Amino acid sequence: MFNVIRVRNFEELSTRAFEIILKTVREKPEAVIGFPAGSTPLGLYRMLIEDHRENGTSWSGCTAFSLDEYVGMPGYDSESCYSFLHHNLFNHLDIPEENIHVPSGTGDLAASCEQYNELLEAHPIDVQILGIGSNGHIGFNEPETSFDSVTHVVDLNASTIRDNARFFDNDEDRVPAKAITMGIANLMAAKKIVLLASGSAKANAVRAAILGVITEYVPASVLKMHPDVVMIIDEEAASALYKEKR
Ligand code: F6R
Repeated sequence: MFNVIRVRNFEELSTRAFEIILKTVREKPEAVIGFPAGSTPLGLYRMLIEDHRENGTSWSGCTAFSLDEYVGMPGYDSESCYSFLHHNLFNHLDIPEENIHVPSGTGDLAASCEQYNELLEAHPIDVQILGIGSNGHIGFNEPETSFDSVTHVVDLNASTIRDNARFFDNDEDRVPAKAITMGIANLMAAKKIVLLASGSAKANAVRAAILGVITEYVPASVLKMHPDVVMIIDEEAASALYKEKR
């Protein structure tokens, strides 16, 4: 089912996503969950940390996969996806470090991709959380990425470099030009996908993903072929959709 949930704002979006992830971890303590970096999941991550701290929800049996990593950035670099996810989530939960997987963006990248695909095959993802790029990307699968792709190295689009410069002191020259990302086929293999979109910068991408044709030019449009997708979008992200009551 392709389920679109429209909410008012970022807080509500985070709460709806939190409810889904909490239910997953409570019902399946050994759940495998895929996590994105970026701004959109930060409210969700804050709620998961609060819940772990206050209600003691255990993550000790869970396995976590990062969606991607910048090429040329070692995990200890403060701007890497590894650091971002550790700092904003993993360091505050009790997932054993050996159950946390982030593709390596340094060294032999072909080997890193192969190893990640093997890990993903060995640990099928129960819930994959996604953000969406203003150009419709999911993970760092930019427009025109094959729907058959598995973990691979990508050249980031100019628009993605521009969008992500905010994580690099607004200096586009400091944003890595390449990343390693789970491919579209890896994402589509997840049992459930939860995509979060917040803010007017995502409105056109959300519109193309929901109302447009399924095409590799809009990577998120592939989700319409998945059996269990929940897309949680706030008012601004929904602003280019048909005007209807919520
Ligand atoms: C992040 C990722 C990207 C982001 C997307 C939205 O690991 O793979 O697809 O989810 O670029 O980013 P934000 O949430 O910062 O708007």
